[in-house]
Amino acid sequence: MKHRRGALLIKKILAPLLYRHRPVGLGPARQYFYLDWLYKTLNVPGAVVEIGCNVGGTAALAHKMLRQLGSSKRYVCVDTFSGFVEEQFETDLELGNHPRRRRSFSANSLSLTRRVLSLHDAADVELIPADILELDPASLPETISACLIDVDLYQPVLTALAKTYPRLAPGGVLLVDDCQEETDWQARKAYGAFMEELGLESRIEFGMGVVTAP
Ligand SMILES: C[S@@+](CC[C@H](N)C(=O)[O-])C[C@H]1O[C@@H](n2cnc3c(N)ncnc32)[C@H](O)[C@@H]1O
Repeated sequence: MKHRRGALLIKKILAPLLYRHRPVGLGPARQYFYLDWLYKTLNVPGAVVEIGCNVGGTAALAHKMLRQLGSSKRYVCVDTFSGFVEEQFETDLELGNHPRRRRSFSANSLSLTRRVLSLHDAADVELIPADILELDPASLPETISACLIDVDLYQPVLTALAKTYPRLAPGGVLLVDDCQEETDWQARKAYGAFMEELGLESRIEFGMGVVTAP
């Protein structure tokens, strides 16, 4: 806890230096894939949602692209802004995750993320601080054109899918990060379970699970 607070303080003080480039969490191929889907869904009605945004690097980049393309869509992020929820991580350990991942993303806060977004002219990205398992779905945009689900663990991924799918506009897409085969993360299992439950065919591209609206 003390370590987390210290790390957070340093990040806040050094933010203009540390975050002078957008801290995008997606690798190049997945950045391409996500941004391409944002382009393909540009004329689909609804907001863009990112569940699991960390310090907002991908949000700042995607928001910039939307504005450059003349879109005024809302960009809404949900995150705990303090990393994983302890019990959810414990469940993931039982499924095969590794203990070294426990504190990942914990040295964060709502205000740090706002600061990073402001540094990159993306202050109108909307932030919802919440555990996705506890979030009232009514707090999410009523219609979603595209959603990046990047919460890593089994339970939050499954819940994020269940809460966003009913809001997906026709022609819209949900993308689940970390669905590659070789990984500690359990996102792929959650994606598989969701698709099976709905009787949909799994489609994993660039290591991302894809769900399209009918
Ligand atoms: C891999 S990071 C997101 C990276 C970000 N999408 C990017 O591309 O820069 C995973 C994020 O999921 C968040 N997270 C994990 N469990 C969550 C939960 N139950 N509810 C909300 N956010 C959660 C963590 O706090 C962390 O910021």
